[in-house]
Amino acid sequence: MAERKMLKRTQYCGKVNEEYIGKTITVYGWVNRKRELGGLTFIDLRDREGIIQVVVNESFSDPKSIKKIGNEYVISATGKVIARSNPNPDIYTGKIELVAESIEILSVSEVPPFYPESNKDVSDELRFKYRYIDLRNQQMQENFRIRSRVAMVARNYLADRGFLEIETPILSKATPEGARDYLVPSRVYKGKVFALPQSPQLFKQMLMVSGFERYFQLAKCFRDEDLRADRQPEFTQIDIEMSFTEPEELFEIIEGMVKEIFALTGKTIQTGFRIMPYDEAMNDYGSDKPDLRIPYKIKDFTEEVKRFNSAILNGIIENNGKIKALVLPDAAQYSRKVLDDINNYIKEIGGKGAIWIKNTENGFKASIKAEASDIEAFYKDNNIAPDHIVFLIGEVPEKALFLAGKLRERLGASFMDKNRLEFLWVVDFPMFFYNEDEQRFDSNHHPFTSPNLDELDKLDTDPISVKSIAYDIVLNGIEIGGGSRRINDIELQRKVFQLLKFSDTEIEEKFGFFVNALRFGAPPHLGIALGLDRIVMLLTGGDSIREVIAFPKTTSSLCLLSGSPSEVADKQLDELGIQVKK
Ligand code: AMO
Repeated sequence: MAERKMLKRTQYCGKVNEEYIGKTITVYGWVNRKRELGGLTFIDLRDREGIIQVVVNESFSDPKSIKKIGNEYVISATGKVIARSNPNPDIYTGKIELVAESIEILSVSEVPPFYPESNKDVSDELRFKYRYIDLRNQQMQENFRIRSRVAMVARNYLADRGFLEIETPILSKATPEGARDYLVPSRVYKGKVFALPQSPQLFKQMLMVSGFERYFQLAKCFRDEDLRADRQPEFTQIDIEMSFTEPEELFEIIEGMVKEIFALTGKTIQTGFRIMPYDEAMNDYGSDKPDLRIPYKIKDFTEEVKRFNSAILNGIIENNGKIKALVLPDAAQYSRKVLDDINNYIKEIGGKGAIWIKNTENGFKASIKAEASDIEAFYKDNNIAPDHIVFLIGEVPEKALFLAGKLRERLGASFMDKNRLEFLWVVDFPMFFYNEDEQRFDSNHHPFTSPNLDELDKLDTDPISVKSIAYDIVLNGIEIGGGSRRINDIELQRKVFQLLKFSDTEIEEKFGFFVNALRFGAPPHLGIALGLDRIVMLLTGGDSIREVIAFPKTTSSLCLLSGSPSEVADKQLDELGIQVKK
């Protein structure tokens, strides 16, 4: 069959520069904008690399065909590159234009629901429904270019260091990472289900038992949990596991990889990241993922505020509460309205409010009853500059720290250098926390995390005080990865399961296959998983991982593009042996 061949593309639209002046070239792309001006037609033609200006002048052979062209049409344009009479210094191709000799329409477009360059002006719903148009936006294209490079750098970096990329199953058994599972019903075994992996945790550990020593995978993970800007039900981890080593070597490897990844956007990172114990993070920042760009720590003024003889504060202290505080500059900017907003914010997130103390034109004042002379002495004794404001939050200690931490993030953000990159390892997490609802211990990381090996005796006497060998890597207040040393001793694993109140039958049913593997020579091993989506989000300066996932779900876990989840035909349900409860 005779087939008309497409003209060979000379160059991407966005890559044509002065070197092409005088040459005849062919470009392909989408019509970003068409304008008519004094007998001339200008077409901004866009492809993945950028935009070129195509000019159609009086000498063009078929002016009628140009009339038909609309925005977002796909066309090819062939013609001579000339220097522009009024250059545009803002774009790479700004010094040249292409004078069209022939233009071919390759595909027409209806008027799109929005134009790619103004995708931020429309609702998320519209962007998701027409994601393929949204993705034509130049910033979106750049995000995915970077994402692809990050994946490539990670792969090459790890392969160079002896890590093998090994795929683990998607159809598998539930792994306990703490979220709900997505389930896939089996047709062959009616009433039975596969679970989509929340992470490859158990499989990567079994690969260590198999002796691969160094594993990695760019792994898709699935978690049915409440979504936020940095959480999607389906996301990607750079998942890593290694045998016969200590966390220090893992830290070195990860820091080196992160350094190479950030170099992709020209950012230089100093390795040797700060290491902070969990207790210090909680005490000084009220968070296990502190944003260290904010230059203020939380203070404890439980003793210092007793001088005010305030019934409110004393009442809190008598009820085993603590008074946590933030001292921030420039008290003058806190008007009554701003202070009310802050007080309401603390109430909204579960506190009783925030007390303020400051030096005003009319002397020292506070939102509680206190003598001006006592406040002045309080400022002096605690070395607080007179123009600073003090916020006090009184609650039981953990809650006070949590609330003060939230306030630190909210108010401190205006004092930070947004362009700084503050990496941090948070270590020495408590092994367990107490789950009040279920009246039992829960793992802080996952049940395969090793307790500190010199605290094993405390597992019987005081489990809540035991620390684990777990670590999180944090960047600017966002957890970008987490991992741990694993338990490789079957007796210790059994003991941890017991503390978590898993019955023998439950252990057998849920992780019997894995516990079995620990019986046959499991080497000491440890690992980590980094959130690829979060890293790319931070690298591209976005504020949601949805900007770096090609086809994301909405915050209510819907895919608006494909309309999933969707109902299925009765026949399909029958085959699976499923009846839907209405
Ligand atoms: P963890 O549950 O901490 O550890 O996950 C590791 C990293 O994955 C990212 N992440 C997410 N990103 C987007 N959407 C989500 N819903 C989401 N959940 C997690 C975060 C997080 O730090 N198996 C262990 C790792 C290990 O111990 O090796 C695990 O999955 O950046």
